[in-house]
Amino acid sequence: MAGAQGRNPAAPTFLRRATIRVTGPRGGPELLAEEIKALGFGVSRIQADAVELEGTLADCMRLNLFLRAASRVFFRLGAFSADSPEALYRQVREFPWEEVLTPATPFSVHGFVRHPSIKDSRFANLKVKDAVADRFTARFGRRPNSGPDRSRFVIFLHWEKERVQLYIDTSGEPLSRHGYRKIPMEAPLQESLAACLVMATGWDRKTPFVNPMCGSGTLAVEAALMAANRPPHLLRKNFGFMHVKGFDRRPWEALKNEARRMAAKTAGTRILASDLRLEAVNAARKNARAAGVEEWIEFDVCDFRKTPLPDPPGVIVVNPAYGQRLGEEKALAETYPAIGDFFKQRCSGFRGFVFTGNPALAKRVGLRPKRRRIFSTGPIECRLLEYELYEGSRKPAGKNLPEP
Ligand SMILES: C[S@@+](CC[C@H](N)C(=O)[O-])C[C@H]1O[C@@H](n2cnc3c(N)ncnc32)[C@H](O)[C@@H]1O
Repeated sequence: MAGAQGRNPAAPTFLRRATIRVTGPRGGPELLAEEIKALGFGVSRIQADAVELEGTLADCMRLNLFLRAASRVFFRLGAFSADSPEALYRQVREFPWEEVLTPATPFSVHGFVRHPSIKDSRFANLKVKDAVADRFTARFGRRPNSGPDRSRFVIFLHWEKERVQLYIDTSGEPLSRHGYRKIPMEAPLQESLAACLVMATGWDRKTPFVNPMCGSGTLAVEAALMAANRPPHLLRKNFGFMHVKGFDRRPWEALKNEARRMAAKTAGTRILASDLRLEAVNAARKNARAAGVEEWIEFDVCDFRKTPLPDPPGVIVVNPAYGQRLGEEKALAETYPAIGDFFKQRCSGFRGFVFTGNPALAKRVGLRPKRRRIFSTGPIECRLLEYELYEGSRKPAGKNLPEP
């Protein structure tokens, strides 16, 4: 099997170089690549939902701690060809698992499989699990426990056509949750997606950031974490890399101390979050408290049209509901034009953004979007529409607007 082991077998596990694959929301990898570069790494490939770079397991620790837009960080152990489940088993059993896993560490196997010999990817995962367990039993007379739990050593199998790639999932539990959301409220954004959106606005972290219809406050909390240069996973206690043989807690603690030193004591700008519902604002406040940024966000209970707007202007982002529930779309048909009116009448000088999964409703905003970006974390494709807000930006009634 070619891969990390082949490149420098003498290097301690955490210093071996291999391909690292970082996944994130669809539409987000360019932003993810920017984040990765800002951490001092080169990027070798950008795909629709992932970015690849070369690095070590020690680098994976840094990526896991600092990346806001990432879902998982995979470290590639090797690659080979397999045309059947038996060939997969044989090759996986040859891999020196004892170099990265101890018999006392429970492991799980997850995967993405697209091969004609496999109907259910769980069967391929099971083959990998058996191969690892059998190798340990044959060599050491005992084997590590296995199960579905992602809280310890996690193996990830990627098998597409004949090509198999084996990875350690160095994140374990996904990075898309940033750990502060205690109360989710209605249709909350995934935290990594919210971070992508804030980055996609091009917000400079100095001018005000305004988020009416804040719901559980995800956008405002992500903005506050960014403004204060606080890494998203500083408080998280468990990652997949901690269960790799040879993990040393000292460099990990040093990395966290470096992050604490780099963090600012304040956000340094105004961040405003509001919602019509008191319970949403209470939830957003609690979530912000859990993230350690409550005091940097100004909360208000109000209709979005009454949002207190700071001077000088900055960025304003609205994530209205987009009618997934029956009957909801009709009411929203009035909300979206009202957002357009609010932008036009009250937000001149701001850069306005609407994030929605419903293009027909988006069209009802009635303003010409300057730019649109498509994102998704599931089956629904969502758009972030940017509006430059200056007097007279609204098209005269009756004129057809371009598709949002
Ligand atoms: C899709 S949710 C926003 C989710 C949010 N981005 C999050 O991550 O939790 C839409 C929010 O808009 C709020 N809302 C609906 N109509 C409103 C109005 N007229 N003024 C202000 N907020 C409103 C709802 O209470 C709801 O919290």
